[in-house]
Amino acid sequence: MTAIRLHPEHAEDVSDFLDRQARLPTLRFITCGSVDDGKSTLIGRLLHDSKALVEGQIETLAADSARHGTRGKDMDFALLVDGLAAEREQGITIDVAYRFFASPNRRYIVADCPGHEQYTRNMATGASTADLAVLLVDASRGLLQQTRRHAFIVSQLGIRQLVLAVNKMDLAGHSEARFRAIEADFRKFAATLGFADITAIPIIAPEGANIATRAPTLPWYKGPTLVEALETAETNTIANPDGPARLPVQWVNRPDSSFRGFAGQIASGTFHVGQKIRVLPAGRDTRIARILGPSGDLSEAIAGTSVTFTLADEVDVSRGDVLAGADRPADVADQFEATLIWMEEAPLYPGRPYWLKLGTRTVGATVTAIKQRIDMATLEPQPAKALNLNDIAVVTLALDRPIAFDPYSLSRLTGGFILIDRLSNATAGAGTVRYPLTRASTIRWQALDVSKATRAALNGQRPMLLWFTGLSGAGKSTIANLVEKKLHAMGKRTYLLDGDNVRHGLNRDLGFTEADRVENIRRIAEVGKLMVDAGLIVLTAFISPFRAERQLARDLQGKGEFVEIFIDTPLAEAERRDVKGLYARARAGEIRNFTGIDSPYEPPENPDLHIDTTQTTPEQAAEQIVAHILHDEIYEAWP
Ligand code: ADX
Repeated sequence: MTAIRLHPEHAEDVSDFLDRQARLPTLRFITCGSVDDGKSTLIGRLLHDSKALVEGQIETLAADSARHGTRGKDMDFALLVDGLAAEREQGITIDVAYRFFASPNRRYIVADCPGHEQYTRNMATGASTADLAVLLVDASRGLLQQTRRHAFIVSQLGIRQLVLAVNKMDLAGHSEARFRAIEADFRKFAATLGFADITAIPIIAPEGANIATRAPTLPWYKGPTLVEALETAETNTIANPDGPARLPVQWVNRPDSSFRGFAGQIASGTFHVGQKIRVLPAGRDTRIARILGPSGDLSEAIAGTSVTFTLADEVDVSRGDVLAGADRPADVADQFEATLIWMEEAPLYPGRPYWLKLGTRTVGATVTAIKQRIDMATLEPQPAKALNLNDIAVVTLALDRPIAFDPYSLSRLTGGFILIDRLSNATAGAGTVRYPLTRASTIRWQALDVSKATRAALNGQRPMLLWFTGLSGAGKSTIANLVEKKLHAMGKRTYLLDGDNVRHGLNRDLGFTEADRVENIRRIAEVGKLMVDAGLIVLTAFISPFRAERQLARDLQGKGEFVEIFIDTPLAEAERRDVKGLYARARAGEIRNFTGIDSPYEPPENPDLHIDTTQTTPEQAAEQIVAHILHDEIYEAWP
């Protein structure tokens, strides 16, 4: 669909409308429900019943321009929906329509999340900026797994106000008992979810019953209508003025060499001119020289305001940094524990690389461990090796560099993040930070004990040594090469040691006598050990004819870090292929001590993987090996 253009006739109305509404408090809310719960009808009814609007078309225009991204005049609408602007920058398509309506007292932005109900992605996106959630339940069906999941997600995303709209009361015989039972059910489930306020309202959406006007057919209900509940709900709950002072830097404004401003929207707390602030993650302190607001200099600015700061000192600040009050700086770390909602069909496996976007910063990230999956029926924790679509879990994450963040409970905007699929650019997961795993209010990396485990965590992988063994011409290098390519494509840090880079350099002094081969393998085993210690997945492709040296190589590695892979090509077959023409020369007596001819090969008795190349293509072999490694990585405990 192409961009919606505003008709000039409407443009005037829309400007007026926006000017007038801009001065009113805004309640952002989201409607959640399963298919057929009556969500669209409810929203339609709300738009229809709130008579303060200019004309019905305007919300539609606003929603469409926000959804499709437009230019010029139309941009006004898109700018209202600041959450979307950030998403679009990332090239992510989020199918959330934001609809606008108003009462004389406040304006409303409702995130309408269509798409198949099975997908929580759109819902979580809409919920991340909402003050309140309207959870729809079909009175004739009662609470569904989906209802519980949605309640859990909105609670995780920091929404504290919830309206349980029990719809289709007509189909439930207008029964108060039915309504009370559903309400009680829900309150019991939600008891531990931290909602400050739950209002249950019986409604009949198509009739508008208890939407804007009281329902004569439900005379037993004495509570507020939906509109009354919305009118009295707390607004502006996302950027918390009482929280710690945080400005995620959206862009650096440098019109000429004399001015350097750092612009963004204050995510939390209050800043004032002269205040001591800390640039994070770098950790440099300075003071605020000026605060520029939308209409000139300010002495103070609070959460939610778009500002540009100038600083007292020439410090390095770039897009994605966080300016924080020095008295209460944000956490800086490259690992943290978080609650994660998985939104993609493809499962999440620990170790797979994603982009993580938190505030204005995007970094590389992997989930290092799934600590527990949360069962949506009981809220009980369960162990899990992978996360499937809609799963919610407590996980640990490792980033490719330290960033500044807060626990989500302290600041929604600097504590919430999304995981982005590197190939499709789609939002694959949404998460909320629980706490950092490396405590550091300013960076002091020299104090950190850097070990194999910390390097491995930074690489987001389990380092190991894949030891290929087999006759000359068996296919070791070919298969090892394919394996390395696959691992590399998966974002793994690898290194392949083979004859080319070892026998021509480090081991240039060694030939093919038994003694030289032993020393050849010993050195390779030692180098492999160092590289594994560096956090890499190392592949070695050498004949390594002797069991003893292969055992030595195994013993040098930690438990579970050595994988012996026997590339089994019978001598006759290797000789038949004779890729390098060496077997012919060995038979002719031109090469002495040739493995299999006049030098022994001791096949592994108990390899971790046995590849029979007469039955398996190199591609199949590589796939088998990668699967084995990933299986190991997932199913064995992190060292
Ligand atoms: S190992 O026995 O010490 O592990 P390595 O894998 O490094 O051997 O080198 C084997 C390769 O060197 C063979 O694939 C072949 O191309 C070449 N080569 C040259 N002379 C010999 C030999 N006498 N025996 C085996 N391989 C040889």
